[in-house]
Amino acid sequence: MSKLFPRWMNHLPTVLAVVGPLAGVGVVAAVNYWFSPKYTDVGYRPEQPVPFSHRLHAGELGMDCRYCHNTVERAAVAAIPPTNTCLNCHRYVKPDSEKLALVRASGETGQSIPWVRVHQLPDYSYFSHDVHLSAGVGCASCHGRIDQMERVTLSQPLSMGWCLECHRNPEPHLRPPSEITNMAYEPRAAGYDPKADPARQRALQPPENCSGCHR
Ligand code: HEC
Ligand code: HEC
Ligand code: HEC
Ligand code: HEC
Ligand code: HEC
Repeated sequence: MSKLFPRWMNHLPTVLAVVGPLAGVGVVAAVNYWFSPKYTDVGYRPEQPVPFSHRLHAGELGMDCRYCHNTVERAAVAAIPPTNTCLNCHRYVKPDSEKLALVRASGETGQSIPWVRVHQLPDYSYFSHDVHLSAGVGCASCHGRIDQMERVTLSQPLSMGWCLECHRNPEPHLRPPSEITNMAYEPRAAGYDPKADPARQRALQPPENCSGCHR
């Protein structure tokens, strides 16, 4: 049996159970979801038009994530940097590199580099970066060790169950807001207790009700 059917079919009964009450939205959502699995497949690792390496830039060179993804703390979406951010350095660093040809061309024509999306939720679910970061959830909790990735790889399923698992008990995932982009920080190893942090003014209430994430 198990060899005859793709593995995702194991989850079908759960999906149908969830879909029942929400038939309209649910069926469309479920169809979109089950027939376009790549975005939620852990390990999804598309090739990019420029071989940009986080391991080099964020790891070895130690650049902070916010130098490039500079809207992440105040907006829903974490901006992908414009070509000029790259050219700040690459006008002088490796100005003749073949690997940077598309970056230079983009700078000249003004056409943005066609980066391929790796993380993407379906339209019917709502997510915002700013609230998570101000609550002290680090990039590493949701994106893994980006600073060690030569090419960005999906490291978490981004499924509803995954969101809810943290929402039901966020505390072990929290860190001091000053450490949100520190990839090596481990709240447990550092002995961090959110309840004892005077910087935290209020208790967090991540939504578990449907309309919190399906608006
Ligand atoms: C020098 C600029 C730069 C820095 C610094 C940087 N990034 Fe990126 N990031 C990019 C670019 C360009 C892309 C799009 C190409 C790609 O996916 O590699 C990207 C893509 C991503 C993606 C995937 C977006 C998608 O399509 O789903 C994530 C997640 C990400 N970065 C997280 C981080 C984190 C976390 C850090 C800090 C540890 C960081 N980045 C540091 C430039 C940067
Ligand atoms: C703060 C400076 C800085 C910024 C900003 C920066 N880079 Fe780099 N990049 C470097 C350095 C330093 C190297 C390594 C050069 C070397 O190997 O000598 C490098 C190497 C590279 C390489 C490999 C080049 C080769 O020939 O091996 C690529 C590709 C690259 N960067 C793409 C990008 C892209 C795309 C962006 C914008 C999203 C970007 N970089 C932003 C400093 C930067
Ligand atoms: C609570 C989990 C979570 C945290 C924390 C988080 N991200 Fe994300 N990130 C996501 C999800 C989910 C998506 C896909 C969003 C979508 O499709 O609407 C995403 C998408 C992205 C993207 C693609 C552009 C976008 O916004 O859709 C980039 C770049 C990115 N994240 C960078 C970062 C950086 C840098 C940090 C830390 C400063 C960070 N993320 C922290 C969950 C998270
Ligand atoms: C690692 C923990 C963690 C993960 C994973 C996570 N969240 Fe959250 N989420 C939180 C915390 C903490 C809050 C903050 C609640 C507060 O500020 O009271 C929050 C708040 C929210 C809110 C309410 C704030 C707002 O933007 O209106 C939404 C919606 C939300 N999360 C959606 C999602 C979705 C969708 C996913 C999965 C793609 C997700 N979250 C994954 C921890 C997490
Ligand atoms: C914390 C955020 C969050 C909450 C709360 C939430 N959902 Fe979801 N839901 C999501 C995300 C994210 C997806 C997309 C998952 C994916 O692509 O795998 C999703 C997908 C779905 C789907 C599509 C089928 C599937 O299983 O992927 C249905 C139906 C659904 N949700 C119904 C509900 C119902 C009913 C509730 C209330 C009991 C609810 N959701 C509460 C985040 C949430």
